[in-house]
Order: sequence, then structure tokens, then C-alpha cells
Amino acid sequence: MTRLVAIASGKGGVGKTTVAINLACALSQIGLDAVVVDGDVNGANVSLHLGSPKLKATLHSVLSGKSKPSEALYLHTPSGTRLVPGDIAMNKTITGNHLLGLARNIEGLAHVALIDSAPGLTDEAVAVLKSASEVIVITTPDMPSVVDTLKTINAAKELGVSVRGAIINKSHGDEHELEAANVSKLLGVPIIGVVPEDISVRESLRMKHPVVYSHPDSAAAMALKRCAETLVRYRGQD
Ligand SMILES: Nc1ncnc2c1ncn2[C@@H]1O[C@H](COP(=O)(O)OP(=O)(O)OP(=O)(O)O)[C@@H](O)[C@H]1O
Ligand SMILES: [Mg+2]
Repeated sequence: MTRLVAIASGKGGVGKTTVAINLACALSQIGLDAVVVDGDVNGANVSLHLGSPKLKATLHSVLSGKSKPSEALYLHTPSGTRLVPGDIAMNKTITGNHLLGLARNIEGLAHVALIDSAPGLTDEAVAVLKSASEVIVITTPDMPSVVDTLKTINAAKELGVSVRGAIINKSHGDEHELEAANVSKLLGVPIIGVVPEDISVRESLRMKHPVVYSHPDSAAAMALKRCAETLVRYRGQD
């Protein structure tokens, strides 16, 4: 059975897509059967991050019944990352209602599916939460982001979705940001990892590679790989 893990956040731009792609890549590197799925249907960009923008079969065509799920499963060959991309054109024809069919359509494509979500609590973001069995929230280490993240956590709990924890992204490690222990206390969930703000992430975006593949020894890549290992350790045999 495919395990759907939503990658969600209260605020936009905190790094959901980056984390979802890199967790899928890092989990694959350690032998797991993982796929990243672009559940941000109105802001789809997983394929832009990985350099394959024009695709016939996408999550959109799957959810609208025009393609089979297996036709929308691609391999980013250099890195070995598997992805189900969305259609990068703004496509309001796919709504939260369509996304409620996500679990059924993704079933069997991989053991673990990391579902990149839209920010906040739009219909689309809530539909991704509803489809998932667990959620990882991404936040930056500042109060506005943490407060919005708490809303996502509370919505997930109300929906009965298990909250695995938070990943703090774009950390500068200085006195101007909230400490991880403080973020954990405010959110009431464990911190899976802290990923530094790192120019390697921007370089990898330009190269259209996950940073864990293109810059494996960078601080961000090491932190993302540790997050993947923490997730595996925590789940045991997964
Ligand atoms: N750790 C990091 N260090 C440096 N830049 C980063 C880091 N994480 C993400 N970024 C950059 O921040 C920008 C936003 O990242 P990303 O697209 O992953 O965020 P998002 O939460 O998915 O955004 P949206 O809410 O719009 O979907 C991108 O340019 C990405 O390369
Ligand atoms: Mg995104």
C-alpha cells in the first residue's frame, strides 16, 4: 500500500517543493521506493525544479481521467528521483474535489509518496491533507511562519492526519531566528531536521537537480539527507 505523506506549510515560499523533491531523492538513494507528487495543482512546479516542463501526462490529466497514473510517472534520470508532475499551466479545472481522488490514483506507484502541497488552507491544500495518512510541515524559523504552520497542524489534527513533525528550512543559525527547541514547543511537534539557507539550493535549482544529488556535501544536502534518515529510522522497516 502506498503511504501518502503530505508536505505542507502555512506560508508560501518556505521550501515545500524543495524539501519534497529532495526527500524523494534522498529516500531513493538509501533504497526506498519513493516518489514526489505535485499536489500543488494551481502552482505546479515540480517539473520546473527538475527540468521537464512540457509533459503530456501529468497529475492533472490523471485526475481528469485523461491519462493512466503509470503514464504520469517519470524518472529524473541523473538523480534517480521519480516524480508525478503537475501541469505548469494554471489549471483551475483541477480542484480540491479532484484531489480527493489522489490516494486512489497514486496507489501502487511507490511505497512512499511525498505530496508537495499548496501553502495555507485552500481547498486544494486541505484536499491533500485529507488524502494523506501523515503530514510533515515546513516552516522557516520566524514567528509569522510558525504561527501559520500551527494552523496547518491544527487542521491536520482535526482531519485525523498524523503529524510526523516539522522541518525548519532556510535557517541562518543566528540570534535573529527562533531556536529549534522553541519552534518545537510552539508547534507541539518534533523537529525532524533543520535545513540551512544555502546557496547550493539555488544552484541546484538552476541546474534542475535535487541538491542532494548535485551538491551532496553541501550543508543543505547533508541536512536533507539526515531528515530522510530520521524518517526511515522512526518508521523502522520503511
Ligand atoms: N534551504 C534553502 N536555501 C536556499 N534557498 C532555498 C532553500 N530552500 C528553498 N530555497 C529556495 O526558496 C525558493 C522557494 O522554495 P520552494 O519553491 O521549495 O518553496 P515552496 O514552499 O514550495 O513555495 P510555494 O509555496 O510557492 O509552493 C526557491 O527559489 C528555492 O530554491
Ligand atoms: Mg511549492
